[in-house]
Amino acid sequence: MKLKIITSNAGKAVEFRTALGSLGIEVEPQDEDCDEIQADTLEEVVRSCLSQLRSKGLGDYVLDDSGLFINALGGFPGVYSAYALRTIGIDGILRLMDGRADRSARFECCIGCSFKGEEFVVKGRCDGIISERPSGKGGFGFDPIFVPSGYEETFAEMSIDVKNGISHRGRAIQALSETLRGKV
Ligand code: IMP
Repeated sequence: MKLKIITSNAGKAVEFRTALGSLGIEVEPQDEDCDEIQADTLEEVVRSCLSQLRSKGLGDYVLDDSGLFINALGGFPGVYSAYALRTIGIDGILRLMDGRADRSARFECCIGCSFKGEEFVVKGRCDGIISERPSGKGGFGFDPIFVPSGYEETFAEMSIDVKNGISHRGRAIQALSETLRGKV
């Protein structure tokens, strides 16, 4: 089975290829434009992208929207994660966390899939904490400041396979493969 991954984020494409490849699904990245609407949830953004791409004849594809939700900041940056990374960056997030006792956070991932003309959405989440300082060179985005529950190291210090085994995207991809298995 072959799926296109609609993204301009090389880090995401690698994670999809690694995780789906091990499930026997071939992944081909495709850079296709989708206007990210301003919405309260990742699922609304994903459903909007699915509907924008519907008429483009792309065949079978997946796309995802993900975000980092920090409890002490009322869920910020959440659906604004890409904007926050571009503007205040990791250092800005750490400054906002200065002196906060509650450093709990979660990553969420919502995947939209169009397969054989049918569209569906699956989700994954990973709980953890925001570290005091950035650590690690792997991954992308907020990986250097996110320590998943039960681990001592950040996502950026883990191998891609370990991250995929526990991450929000890895879990959503697992749900995706189970759903796809019922449709082939
Ligand atoms: P989007 O899903 O491309 O809109 O990404 C939202 C933002 O969250 C981007 O700035 C990403 O870098 C960040 N992000 C999404 N997934 C991850 C992840 O697995 N690790 C670190 N940052 C992530």
